[in-house]
Amino acid sequence: MNVLVVGRGGREHSIVMKLADSKQVNNIYVAPGNGGIGKHATCVPIDEMDLDGLVAFAEKEAIDLTIVGPENPLNAGIADRFQQKGLAVFAPTKAAALLEGSKSFAKAFMNKHEIPTADHKTFTNADDAKHYIEEKGAPIVIKADGLAAGKGVVVAETKAQALAAVDDMLVSKAFADAGAKVVVEEFLDGKEFSLMAFVHKNNVYPMVTARDHKRAFDNDQGPNTGGMGAFAPVEDVSDADLTFAVNEILQKTADGLVEDGRSFTGILYAGLIMTTKGPKVIEFNTRFGDPETQVVLPLLENDLVQVLMDVMDGKDPQLKWEKNACVGVVVASKGYPAAYQKGMLLPEMATTKSCFTIHAGTKLVGEKLVSDGGRVLLVGAKNVSLQAAAESAYAGLEVLSHTEDFFYRKDIGKQ
Ligand code: AMP
Ligand code: GLY
Repeated sequence: MNVLVVGRGGREHSIVMKLADSKQVNNIYVAPGNGGIGKHATCVPIDEMDLDGLVAFAEKEAIDLTIVGPENPLNAGIADRFQQKGLAVFAPTKAAALLEGSKSFAKAFMNKHEIPTADHKTFTNADDAKHYIEEKGAPIVIKADGLAAGKGVVVAETKAQALAAVDDMLVSKAFADAGAKVVVEEFLDGKEFSLMAFVHKNNVYPMVTARDHKRAFDNDQGPNTGGMGAFAPVEDVSDADLTFAVNEILQKTADGLVEDGRSFTGILYAGLIMTTKGPKVIEFNTRFGDPETQVVLPLLENDLVQVLMDVMDGKDPQLKWEKNACVGVVVASKGYPAAYQKGMLLPEMATTKSCFTIHAGTKLVGEKLVSDGGRVLLVGAKNVSLQAAAESAYAGLEVLSHTEDFFYRKDIGKQ
């Protein structure tokens, strides 16, 4: 088979590494890829938003299956475009991807289908939003409706912060059209976890749970980032909570989408919080999470291509998961998530049986690998326990322990 992966980050590198294990896959292409993916696949310089270019490439190279990593092309309708040409694509249509593309849509959908989530109200008018905040008090959460690269959420500890967030989004248009509507939401307290599933119509096949570390610095200090590391599985989620999340959240969501004429194919990702009243939804993504994928896919024993084909054929893929734990630590450019320098030279990273390196913001300049983004690498490891996996991953990071150009959290996998 010829397989095309759309995207350029760590998630896509992880998907590619899993595809490289498949005996059914002859050629793996990535558009546009990054500096490290080229070891396992052919990078083609087509931007992930160049839908015409991607469709033309898939036709020319007789691509048998396309997997889409990031949310922006999904919301631009990449799956619809491929389907119109009869090209197989494991990704939701634009109508189904709205579950991630619009938070107000997702909230209304959850209310309609009685899927547990925080109480909320949607506003386009700043004064109305502010009245609601005055009435509800803090802590309270303000969310830009549209896609904002993970930056559109403000967890306000005080009313003043909440009112300022409303002004930022609705008056100063900090997120342009993505912030033309805001969702004001009840603050939920509890531990978070991510649950992804392979979904086709009413069929839902859950993966192992994972936990992302969103803050920049140790002990969850500092600003929110795209994710500084992750681990899987999450041991503090009880079997009862997991069963509830699968049946009352993921399954109901898949069923609701079919009922509403937005049938879903692809990866459904629920960001969940364990409240005293059980798991509730914080957000939906309609794609693989990043960096969760980098610690979940290494635990999948099945051939990924076979899984995707089975799911699209309406067959149970019989998922099998290693009993091990996996930990991934992100290496970021100094300064990230604020301003940082690109083009810094990267050392040779360890690749052993128990430790792997995934590339995100890297690029090749001649033979040299240099940084090309905020999150640069993810060093991961599998082992019999979370603690052992973390130790293996941190051993792989030794070579960066004295760097001035990069930093990484020292507490990933320590819950
Ligand atoms: P999101 O981009 O929607 O995943 O939100 C980013 C982060 O904000 C989440 O990972 C949570 O830590 C936090 N968050 C979002 N919504 C809520 C909520 N209703 N209550 C508490 N924390 C929240
Ligand atoms: N880790 C959260 C996301 O992929 O958006």
